Amino acid sequence: MYKIIDGRKIASEIKKEIAEEVIKLKSAGKKIPHLAAILVGNNGSSETYVANKVKDCEQVGFRSSVIRFSDEIAETVLLKKIEELNNDSDVDGFIVQLPLPSHISENKVIEAIDPQKDADGFHPVNIGKMVIGLSGYLPATPYGIVELIRRYNIETSGKNCVVIGRSNIVGRPVSILLSQKGIDATVTVIHSHTKNIKDIVSQADIIVAAIGSPGFVKGEMVKEGAVVIDVGATRLESTETKSGFRLAGDVDFESVAPRCSYITPVPGGVGPMTRVSLLRNTLMAAKKK
Ligand code: GUN
Repeated sequence: MYKIIDGRKIASEIKKEIAEEVIKLKSAGKKIPHLAAILVGNNGSSETYVANKVKDCEQVGFRSSVIRFSDEIAETVLLKKIEELNNDSDVDGFIVQLPLPSHISENKVIEAIDPQKDADGFHPVNIGKMVIGLSGYLPATPYGIVELIRRYNIETSGKNCVVIGRSNIVGRPVSILLSQKGIDATVTVIHSHTKNIKDIVSQADIIVAAIGSPGFVKGEMVKEGAVVIDVGATRLESTETKSGFRLAGDVDFESVAPRCSYITPVPGGVGPMTRVSLLRNTLMAAKKK
């Protein structure tokens, strides 16, 4: 029988730990951590993500602010706001919620963020530090995935790990973290040009699915006893929910779960852990001051 990796439960444990740290900072007369989020346009998923991040901040006792712009904002105006936040000593860390409208260069925006305030861990300086094993801010989702694996005492050393997807914010960085000293997995990255995907996935002890293609991983591709981490969170229309949509993972849960030792659900698996990573990075930024 498979076990569910409960991201909500672990995230709530970590939030308690962070809240205790905030109380300690307060009683030592130190500044309370402050996370800011820039939200451009009104993409439904982004609205939800940012609203949840604000809620998380409230729960642990952080301050938070949301800075909104219309999706017609000029790139120069956004870059100027980032410069302002870089120089605002009241803000410890901030994020720019992605995706951005197509007339704005995401790379330029990410590179404009002060690496010391890069709560998402997306800046090339932080990615570079991660690659060579130096301490810095880790990208939020990969950080959350590794923490889930660690808190469930899942063995990674020498295990075959297959990462499906090579995005800058999940697939690529998580593949690097999993092969790092101390985690020690043997990692294969699958992407759109990979041949024999099914054969490769079926060799995996640990599968991380991060391509944004609902139900991509099917039971017949999964080895008995594998650990499956589902990063997919595609919004699909649904008549069964109040909001009118539901989140769909990259894993066909029904056929995959019975073959697994551990599996993350969607929602309630990786998502809450991504948000907690953001809090951890912000706390680290505030403590550095
Ligand atoms: N869009 C999807 N995931 C993320 C994330 O972790 N951070 C930001 N800033 N945008 C995202």
